[in-house]
Amino acid sequence: MSNEVTYVMVKPDGVQRGLVGEIIQRFERKGLQLVGLKQVVPSEEIARKHYAVHSERPFFSGLIKFITSGPVVCMAWSGIDAIGVARNLIGSTNGREAAPGTIRGDFGMDIGYNMIHGSDASETAEFELGLWFSEGLNEWTQDSISWIYE
Ligand code: RTP
Ligand code: MG
Repeated sequence: MSNEVTYVMVKPDGVQRGLVGEIIQRFERKGLQLVGLKQVVPSEEIARKHYAVHSERPFFSGLIKFITSGPVVCMAWSGIDAIGVARNLIGSTNGREAAPGTIRGDFGMDIGYNMIHGSDASETAEFELGLWFSEGLNEWTQDSISWIYE
């Protein structure tokens, strides 16, 4: 049990479908703390770095084309076990198989167009936060915290 910050990104399909507010609301209501937020159109360079682990996969070029096709919304969320908590809110990769109640389970029907990304481990979170938020994150005291954790 330790405090973590995770990198979450609404992908171009989520932005186009008007799901940004819904997604932010789910993270806020859960009790995670927002410590970074912006909209960017990713360059090919940043997209390739972000998805470098998949560079040898057959879907890689399509994935880069998709992620760079329009604006994404970059977020940093903080909380105890934030990485796993965010992955649980997001759901499994393929929307058709993702559990109802998760973001992908409630809104998605595809594996590529799955609306949202979340870091999968502490090393990847650190790498992705440094990549997308090189300007740094915001430190602020969330007054409701004493009603979120006992
Ligand atoms: P993400 O990294 O985006 O949070 O998603 P994930 O961990 O659930 O899935 P991952 O295995 O890391 O795959 C990264 C993204 O690549 C696309 N993908 N397409 N066409 C395909 O077979 C395929 N497989 C993966 C998805 O957009 C996935 O989120
Ligand atoms: Mg992944």
